[in-house]
Amino acid sequence: MKKTTWTLVALAALTALSCVSMFGADAKAGQAAYDKSCKGCHGATGSPNAAVAKMMSVTIPELSSAEVQGKSDADLTKVITEGKGKMKPVKSLVGPPADVVAYLHTLKK
Ligand code: HEC
Repeated sequence: MKKTTWTLVALAALTALSCVSMFGADAKAGQAAYDKSCKGCHGATGSPNAAVAKMMSVTIPELSSAEVQGKSDADLTKVITEGKGKMKPVKSLVGPPADVVAYLHTLKK
């Protein structure tokens, strides 16, 4: 690789590191993980996918709601890793659940 390429790689790594250390969890990485593993049922902004809710015959909660936002990070993590009610544990999740939890909090209205 060229020297400039290495510099870019180093810069990118530093940026990623500083994001993690500033916020603890990485909401941006969490969003990517959410888009991949949750969006199908929970919608891009936390509003349930009506077709999926109908198919599963369940009410999918609005993730931006005070009720969901009021849950502790530990509870939210548990929903993701262990499932809850009709929601199965999310096995396809990339990265730590804490990142997704951080992203969930950005949905708060
Ligand atoms: C296959 C569809 C599906 C996928 C994929 C899915 N969920 Fe859910 N989720 C549900 C359903 C259905 C419920 C309601 C469960 C119930 O009340 O029986 C729910 C509930 C929740 C709740 C509220 C739990 C509570 O205590 O009220 C949260 C938070 C949540 N999901 C987050 C996520 C996150 C984050 C992901 C991705 C990592 C995800 N879900 C992936 C279907 C899904």
